[in-house]
Amino acid sequence: MSRLLQRLPSPLVRIRSIKLKWSLIILAAVAVTAGTSQLGFALGWPVWVRPIMAGALALVAVQVLAQGMTAPLRAMASQADKIANGDYDQRVHTDAEDEIGQLAASFNGMAERLAAVDSLQKDFIANASHELRTPVAAIQNQLENLVDRVTQPDPDTLQRMLQQTEHLSALVRQLLDLSRLDAATLGPARELVAAGVLLKQVAHEAQLMHPGADIVVQLDGPLGISADEAMLHQLVSNLLANALRFSPIGAPITLSGEGASDHVTIEVADHGPGIAPEIRTRAFERFWQADGSGPTGSGGAGLGLSICKRIVELHGGTISIHSNNPEGTRVRVRLPLVP
Ligand SMILES: Nc1ncnc2c1ncn2[C@@H]1O[C@H](COP(=O)(O)OP(=O)(O)O)[C@@H](O)[C@H]1O
Ligand SMILES: [Mg+2]
Repeated sequence: MSRLLQRLPSPLVRIRSIKLKWSLIILAAVAVTAGTSQLGFALGWPVWVRPIMAGALALVAVQVLAQGMTAPLRAMASQADKIANGDYDQRVHTDAEDEIGQLAASFNGMAERLAAVDSLQKDFIANASHELRTPVAAIQNQLENLVDRVTQPDPDTLQRMLQQTEHLSALVRQLLDLSRLDAATLGPARELVAAGVLLKQVAHEAQLMHPGADIVVQLDGPLGISADEAMLHQLVSNLLANALRFSPIGAPITLSGEGASDHVTIEVADHGPGIAPEIRTRAFERFWQADGSGPTGSGGAGLGLSICKRIVELHGGTISIHSNNPEGTRVRVRLPLVP
């Protein structure tokens, strides 16, 4: 009987309120009880048979009408256990449009998001291990050659090894930064930062590292902002590092800051190859690099812009990539003065 009922669609499936459903079920039970009693009376059933028949038929009516109402809840309970054990393929199937149906839809959405986060995390670990393994293997190889006296510890070899070690430590620093930023759900520390002074300072530091570069700083309006100064410094220097890396030697790089009544806009513009519009959102993905950026080239491992994005998100701002005129990249960061 219950198997047969389970196959039948619930007659109340289209009703969007669980309260209304239960009201209808109670009404139906009362009507069936009263109807059966009347019928029993008319047909001359013995007095003790009438309430039994009325109760039994009311139960059947309730079973038919309430059919399938609690099935999604049972499914959710058993699937939540499976999800807790790492099986994210679980979904609840229901046609119900009431609150239980909405809960099932939220449950499915949550399972989908957990699956996406899980796969992102797995990809992240795979990518990070791959990026770390490459320089470690190269250093190990060179050290083995030195120990076996296949090569001599000449300045060139030592310089190459130093570069690989620097690359490795930069990568580890970026990974630690990202995990620190991911964990910072409470938001950044807030202090009054003079963004103009900060932009000049970052430009000055970059200029010392790249004496041939032409970095122009343009400031306009009040640039005091409530922010985490170290994060803001990292944001601007990551953007400037990209501009320096992709710009042709000698082409000017503009670092601008513009203050408005409720926000500050920071832009870093270069005359490099630019980033095609269709891949601009991908550039903020972790480990993503355009073809030819090279995993162990002069730059990083594709984490710089994702760090920037996370810093901007923590400050409640936005970051976007645009074209620079006539060619090149213009990265625009808009930060609210206060969160
Ligand atoms: N100013 C730029 N000009 C051209 N391409 C850029 C620029 N900034 C970033 N990109 C592209 O976006 C990718 C991701 O940048 P990023 O996250 O900073 O990683 P990384 O600098 O370590 O490669 C770069 O590898 C490059 O392909
Ligand atoms: Mg970078």
